[in-house]
This record gives sequence, structure tokens and C-alpha cells, in this order.
Amino acid sequence: MSTDEVKKLLSFVTYPDFEKDIVAFGFVKEIEIKEDRVFVSIEIPSSNPQVALKIKNDAVEVLQKNGLSADITVRQPKEPEIKSNSKSGKNIAPNIKHFVMISSGKGGVGKSTTTVNLALALVEQGKKVGILDADIYGPNIPRMLGATDQKPEAVGNKIKPIKAYGLEMMSMGVLMNEGQSLIWRGAMIMKAIEQLLGDILWSDLDVLFIDMPPGTGDAQLTLAQSVPVTCGVCVTTPQTVALDDAARSLDMFEKLHIEVAGIVENMSGFICPDCGKEYDIFGRKTGSELGKKYNVPVIAEIPLEPKIREGGDSGKPVVIFNSDTISAKRYKDAAAALWQKISLLTGDNSDIQPTSTQSACGN
Ligand SMILES: Nc1ncnc2c1ncn2[C@@H]1O[C@H](COP(=O)(O)OP(=O)(O)OP(=O)(O)O)[C@@H](O)[C@H]1O
Ligand SMILES: [Mg+2]
Repeated sequence: MSTDEVKKLLSFVTYPDFEKDIVAFGFVKEIEIKEDRVFVSIEIPSSNPQVALKIKNDAVEVLQKNGLSADITVRQPKEPEIKSNSKSGKNIAPNIKHFVMISSGKGGVGKSTTTVNLALALVEQGKKVGILDADIYGPNIPRMLGATDQKPEAVGNKIKPIKAYGLEMMSMGVLMNEGQSLIWRGAMIMKAIEQLLGDILWSDLDVLFIDMPPGTGDAQLTLAQSVPVTCGVCVTTPQTVALDDAARSLDMFEKLHIEVAGIVENMSGFICPDCGKEYDIFGRKTGSELGKKYNVPVIAEIPLEPKIREGGDSGKPVVIFNSDTISAKRYKDAAAALWQKISLLTGDNSDIQPTSTQSACGN
């Protein structure tokens, strides 16, 4: 029997309390076959011994049924040697449960669009959600949420977040006059991000999405040192040059010891609004190659769709205003997959939404 065949058998082992199996989650790390014995090494995020035991028993059972004697090790991944910045215990916004960092190596690939639509999809799924627009250089979340006219209200020396479409939002764009350009130095960026987290009266949120500036520099590090970032999402477009930058972004998450919930491959094909035919303008499905290399799933492939751009420009996000589009459906599936990952990482699994087969993009 080959390792691929063993993997196929192990894909019948579902992760306790989830619909997905341990192979789809990427928890099977090593398979070694020596004569009639199989050695399997599995890494899971949970420290609960019951979970480990159940997975071990299920794996042994499925392999035995197929005539293989198995040696299964189930453990938590090794703690990184350098103590994690993101899990340092510091949290300057303690009433927020989970922080999701949306990043990309390259600018203009659709981070803000992804942030807005994933956040609104989670609102629709009953979560309390906020967005922090940490893109100090080019904040544009307020426009995408149709909130450019709203002025923040001060309460003492703190500021109330802006409310839009059932979520909370704060951005340098709200605190500045429109079009005012900024030249920020590193230390000022750090201060600004800390203030956006600590001096805003966020409600008790399930998830705060943080729309990062492009790149892998100071802002990312500051954020990871200020709050315990639960996981990241990497946004990329399918061209090779964008993928190179996305790889840098995944390397950054690794250095900061932040788990990546998934890759969003944006502008993945173009659906012609007239004939419905799909064209590969920037290519397609290249995100899954990158995902395999980093062991990260692709949680959405979002086509280039004029309604997405129009929704961004007019402050009418596609997830709400064109909810029957392919993109809207994929954002919703991706949001469910993201919440599932958060649940897995933190044990916050009170109300997991079932994901459709779409969400994993066959990855
Ligand atoms: N799938 C898509 N289909 C059509 N237009 C899109 C799509 N994704 C993003 N856009 C448009 O592309 C432009 C750039 O997207 P966005 O602002 O989300 O990128 P970004 O990565 O946040 O950019 P920046 O690095 O400048 O912050 C916007 O006008 C947005 O409406
Ligand atoms: Mg942006």
C-alpha cells in the first residue's frame, strides 16, 4: 500500500465535533510504511487528551479494517523556540475575543474588499464583528462600507466606533479629512495602531478583522505584539508575481507564529456579465499550489466580478447587495471556514456553521 492510499483511508477520520476530516485539515504530518506496519504522525491544535485519543482510535480502526497494523502518534505541534509575539499574553483590547489579520505581500490585490465581505458574511452568521482599518497609508474601508460621512463620537478620552451594516468599524480614514495624505514614520504607525485598538470603545466582539497595509513590515509586528492574533488570512491574485509576494506574507505569519486560516485567491478568473463565460485573465487555481507548499487551505476563489468593484466604490458590499452572485456565496463559505478554524484553534465552538463543499475549494 502506498502513502497516498493510507492518506485516503485516514480521510475517513473526522475531527471530533467537526465535519471535516484530519487529512483535509492538514493534521496528518507524516506517513511511513515499513513492511506491513504503518507509522503515522498527526498534529492537532487541541490539547484535550480525549480529542487525541478519539482520533488515534479512529485511525487505528480504519487502518486495521484494511489489514494494516498501525502506529499512530497524535500530538500538539511543538512550541516554536522563539516565544510567540502574537501569543505573548498582551491584549490592549481585552473585550475582543478573536483577532484576524488580513494580509498580503502586495498592494491592490483585494485585502480591503475581502475584509469587508468576510466580516459582513460573519455578521450574517450571527457573530459580533468589527473591522479595524490599519492601512494608515491608504485607508478605504469607510468608503467600502458607505460610512465616509459618519463622524466619530468622543466619550471622555475614548472614541466610539462607527456602525455600518451591523458591524463596528474604525479607521484612520474616519479620523482624518478625506483625501488628506499622510507621511508616517515607523514609530507613528505603531502608535496609531495601538490607539486604534486601545482607545476605541469596541463592544464585546467575537471577531475583529484587521485590514493590514500591504507588505510585511512594522505594522504587522506592532499588531502581533499588541494583541493575541488568533489567525491570519492571506489574500493574493493568481499571477506568479503576486504569488511570490503572498509567499513572503505566509513567511511573515510563520515568523510571527500566527496560524494562517486560509488563502483567498482573488481575481481568480473573470465571469463575463454578458455571456456568463469564465475567462482566465490573471490565471486561476495557482493559490492552491502555494497553499500546498505552506500547508494552508484555499478558503475562497473569488472571480473578477464588476459587481464587487461597484459594491466597493458605492459602499454597497456584494455580500449584502448582490447576495446571489458566485462571489457572495464564496465569501460566505469562506467566512464559515474561517470561523471553523477559529473554533479549532481556540475551542470557541459553541455554534459552528456547517460549511458547504465550496469552502475548501477542493484543497
Ligand atoms: N474580485 C474582484 N472583482 C472586481 N473588482 C475587485 C475584486 N477585488 C477587488 N476589486 C477592486 O480592486 C480594487 C482594489 O481592491 P482593494 O482595495 O480591496 O485592494 P487592497 O489589497 O486592499 O489594496 P491596498 O493595498 O491599496 O489596500 C478596488 O477597486 C476593488 O473594488
Ligand atoms: Mg486596502
